[in-house]
Amino acid sequence: MRIHSISSIAALLAALALPAQADNYRVPGNTIVNEECGSCHMVFPPQMLHADSWRAMMSDLPNHFGSDASLDEQRRIAITDFLVAHSGGRKTGVTRDAKGKPLLRISETTRFIKKHREISPAVWKRASIKSAANCSACHTRAAAGDYDDDSIRIPK
Ligand code: HEC
Ligand code: HEC
Repeated sequence: MRIHSISSIAALLAALALPAQADNYRVPGNTIVNEECGSCHMVFPPQMLHADSWRAMMSDLPNHFGSDASLDEQRRIAITDFLVAHSGGRKTGVTRDAKGKPLLRISETTRFIKKHREISPAVWKRASIKSAANCSACHTRAAAGDYDDDSIRIPK
C-alpha cells in the first residue's frame, strides 16, 4: 500500500513536470508504433496533432502522403488507440483546414507555422532538408523528443 501510493505520487509529479518543459515531446515507448511508424521516417510525436487528425490519417493508410503504409487491422487499431491517447490538446494550434477537415501534417498546423515563420521557403527546399517533415535535419535531438533551441542546427 505504501509503495503503491509513493509510485502514484511520483507519476503525478512527472505528469505535472511535463507541461513546464514546452519543447519536450518525448514519444512514449511503443514497440508496434516504433516498428510500423518509424520505418520510413522518425516516429512523429503524437502530442503534435489532434486526435481527429490521427483518426483521419489512420483510416487511409494505403494513401499515406504518396506511400502505401497499410497495416493489418489489429495493428492499425492498436496504433490508432496509442496516437489518440497521446494526441495533443491546446498546444497543437489549429489542426483543421478552412473547410473543417482535420489536417494530416504537423507541418501544416498553426503552431508549427508560427514556430517556423523565420525559415525561408528556400531553406526548406535545401537538398540537406528536402521537406518540413524532415524534423531531425534541423532538430538534432528530435528522435528523443527534444526540440529545444540549443539542439537546432540548420544544415547548409
Ligand atoms: C511506407 C513508408 C511510410 C510508413 C510505413 C509511414 N509513413 Fe508517415 N510518411 C511517409 C511519407 C513519404 C511522408 C511524407 C514525407 C514528406 O512530406 O517529406 C509521411 C508523412 C507523415 C506525417 C506528416 C509529417 C508532416 O508534418 O509533414 C505524419 C504525421 C506521419 N507520416 C505519420 C505516420 C504514422 C503515424 C505512421 C504509422 C502508422 C506512418 N507515418 C508510417 C511514409 C511513411
Ligand atoms: C529547416 C530546419 C527545421 C526543420 C526541418 C524543422 N524545424 Fe522545428 N524549428 C526550427 C527552428 C530554427 C526553430 C526555432 C525557432 C525559434 O526559436 O525562433 C524551430 C522550432 C520548433 C519548435 C519549437 C521549440 C520551442 O522552443 O518552442 C518545435 C516544437 C519544432 N520546431 C518542431 C518541429 C517538428 C515536429 C518538425 C518536423 C515535422 C520540425 N520542427 C522541422 C527548424 C526546423
